[in-house]
Amino acid sequence: MDASDPLSDLRERFYIPEDCLYMDGNSLGLFSKDAEAALEHVVEEWREHAILGWTDADPDWHTYGERLGERLASLVGAAPEEVVVANSTTVNIHTLVGTFYDPDRGEKIVVDDLDFPTDHYAIRAQLRQRGRDPDEALRVVESRDGRTIETEDVLAAIDDDVGMVFLPSVLYRSGQLFDIEAITEAAHDADALAGFDLAHSIGTVPHDLSEVGVDFAVWCHYKYLNAGPGAIAGLYVNERHFGVTPALAGWWGNAKETQFDMSLTYDPAHSAAAFQTGTIPILSTAPLDGALDIVEDAGGVAALREKSLALTDFLIELVDERLPECEVGTPRDPASRGGHVAVEHPEAYRISLALKERGVVVDFRQPNVVRIAPIPSYVGFEDVFRTVEHLREVLDAEEYESFERKRGGVT
Ligand SMILES: Cc1ncc(COP(=O)(O)O)c(C=O)c1O
Repeated sequence: MDASDPLSDLRERFYIPEDCLYMDGNSLGLFSKDAEAALEHVVEEWREHAILGWTDADPDWHTYGERLGERLASLVGAAPEEVVVANSTTVNIHTLVGTFYDPDRGEKIVVDDLDFPTDHYAIRAQLRQRGRDPDEALRVVESRDGRTIETEDVLAAIDDDVGMVFLPSVLYRSGQLFDIEAITEAAHDADALAGFDLAHSIGTVPHDLSEVGVDFAVWCHYKYLNAGPGAIAGLYVNERHFGVTPALAGWWGNAKETQFDMSLTYDPAHSAAAFQTGTIPILSTAPLDGALDIVEDAGGVAALREKSLALTDFLIELVDERLPECEVGTPRDPASRGGHVAVEHPEAYRISLALKERGVVVDFRQPNVVRIAPIPSYVGFEDVFRTVEHLREVLDAEEYESFERKRGGVT
């Protein structure tokens, strides 16, 4: 399968740590030579141009966020001006939920109980800012099995009291891919807005946000897009919302033409760029510029998705066959699966430590999940096979017994 993989050469462009099977790219993607070159380029320009880099660098730093938005638009199926890079994912949730929450439209915000915590923290904070009790205003769709959320339960939660639905595209633990189209349609039928956190799908699942009519979305670039730890995040705002004043307005979201007029009245850019806040952090943005070359050379996200599904199919098949004491917590239907697989075992935490000691980098998520992410741009089918063999050996020798149960820090 590796021999017939049209994307197999891409891995040469990445720095794969020595003696390592890297299966954690859904937490932090690998550094690439392309990202490194883009970073070195801006460092060189800083050295040469100093402040003139804002205008004289190539590409100029002043419109760097908008330009990257244009490059990212095809990854999410949006018009170029509907996308920009800015802030962090959490900050983008604050500004977008803060902007678009309108209790007159409907007091409730629909979320689910398997969401990544930061989404709830930010939404709750925004509700408090508006004088609302988050326990009252949040309508939390509950999982039936602790792994996934039924689409019909989401749809049933959307009624006239709902003003906004904010859900992930892919659940961070089980890897379930949501039906964005059906949810957006239901939200709009109830005159509510639909927003999504695409952290676990950007760069590995194609999206068509504009066509579906999604109102807004956020994501990070340090997972499947390999832009580096804490890299700048991204956001999408549908063009019908252009012109609103963002909740977290700042001078970087002012129209570029009037930004340096230094008027004390904010003049929002007539695009998603209005949702930038402060000065773009060029050094944590530049690697994304290089990393996107790899996506383009792969033939776009559709090509990456095809290989990703083949890799996760293979992984699920091997877990079924070789690891009967483990369960697959990820939907088997490809249409409901993101880019990683949740392998469940009561000793998942200590198994993840035993694997890391063997050089197999995975991560652990509460309460019983070893997450394995075969990233299509640098993981091959043999890597998947070897990962499962390591797991088999760890289980056979009960290697996890030599690790403490006590947890702390990053898992
Ligand atoms: C779904 C989701 N949203 C948000 C975040 C993190 O947001 P930030 O980049 O602001 O730390 C993560 C991190 O893994 C995530 O999985």
